[in-house]
Amino acid sequence: MSSVEMKEQENILPHGGELIDRELTGDRKESYLHKSKSLLVLKLDAWSLSDLELIANGGFSPLTGFMGEEDYQSVIENICLKDGTVWSIPITLAVNKEQADSYDIGTSIALFGEDDILYGVLELEEKYTYEKEKEASLVYGTTDAAHPGVKKLYEKGDVYLAGPIFMLNRPSHDNFEKFYYDPKETRKMFAELGWKTIVGFQTRNPVHRAHEYIQKSALESVDGLLLNPLVGETKSDDISAEIRMESYQVILKNYYPENRARLVIYPAAMRYAGPKEAILHAIVRKNYGCTHFIVGRDHAGVGDYYGTYEAQDLISQYEEKLGIQIFKFEHAFFCTKCENMGTEKTCPHGKEFHVHLSGTKVREKLRNGEQLPKEFSRPEVASVLMKGLSKNNTN
Ligand code: ADX
Repeated sequence: MSSVEMKEQENILPHGGELIDRELTGDRKESYLHKSKSLLVLKLDAWSLSDLELIANGGFSPLTGFMGEEDYQSVIENICLKDGTVWSIPITLAVNKEQADSYDIGTSIALFGEDDILYGVLELEEKYTYEKEKEASLVYGTTDAAHPGVKKLYEKGDVYLAGPIFMLNRPSHDNFEKFYYDPKETRKMFAELGWKTIVGFQTRNPVHRAHEYIQKSALESVDGLLLNPLVGETKSDDISAEIRMESYQVILKNYYPENRARLVIYPAAMRYAGPKEAILHAIVRKNYGCTHFIVGRDHAGVGDYYGTYEAQDLISQYEEKLGIQIFKFEHAFFCTKCENMGTEKTCPHGKEFHVHLSGTKVREKLRNGEQLPKEFSRPEVASVLMKGLSKNNTN
């Protein structure tokens, strides 16, 4: 346990002190809907739409819009907004130069999705250019275009539009609607459940035994678990959100006490920014009302870009300022000698007894129709994954 005092949910303030709500309803929504008919239009891709949603619903509090240049520079260079609030990843809206020239500062822009639905409005305060390699190197720690986050950055337009936003319509979350809660709603849910201490868990993978082990280790010290999988854009070889959501439901049903865990989607895009993204992930879970957040091995990492404990090392430097307590876990594995899960901290046996499977190996096994070992995955989860992947392969 860290020396930071246990924070209770009643006391956990949103990041920056105020939970932002920029989702318009009622008369204000009607008046914006009317006004939007005469506005210039911008089509958002799925990534920017998810950013709009998280700004509007308070997940990205204290942000009220896409970042202006001063905040942007401060975030990439100093890991804080210009007012000193910790923030690690720029939340920006890129367009190409011709598009940028067509919008005037001081005007509003109607923000549509790729499905031609109007989702929001941007009040344009600033347009600025930025250096992609600088952003890549400061945020992702690499300028390698093979890194999935860097690749996305290099594909973006050259100008950032900035200013406050409003959301007029919430993006739909298809099959996950019943797992959609905004931060106001999760806070209310925790209060109703009587949870005072809540640990948030980020994941973009199907739940495996190491996830379960670290979640349950944390659950021994807090009242409840917010299983909060990211369901926005991920790289193409990650397992789809549909299959993953089924795996989370199956494991909760079979292996967790009903009143100790809740599944809620985190509708963000995955950046794969390792240490910097761990900080963003903790901020968002604080906004959802979590008092604690789990950072295990290579959090939000990809390939060999980050060291196993780099995310833990960085977030440790910001833990006090972040105001959410971080549970750090070493690389967990199943030990065939202990016949149990453990880490180097709890298991004395050699590596030859430890079952490790990389995500790539797991996907390979599933695609070849091979069973996943029970030391790696609960059988109920393995069968969801096998069923899901074989369905996908025949589509
Ligand atoms: S992430 O990209 O969303 O971080 P993933 O879903 O694999 O990836 O991990 C979710 C969380 O579990 C992260 O905090 C990660 O560090 C942690 N984690 C994953 N596998 C292990 C493991 N074997 N041992 C310890 N922590 C792990």
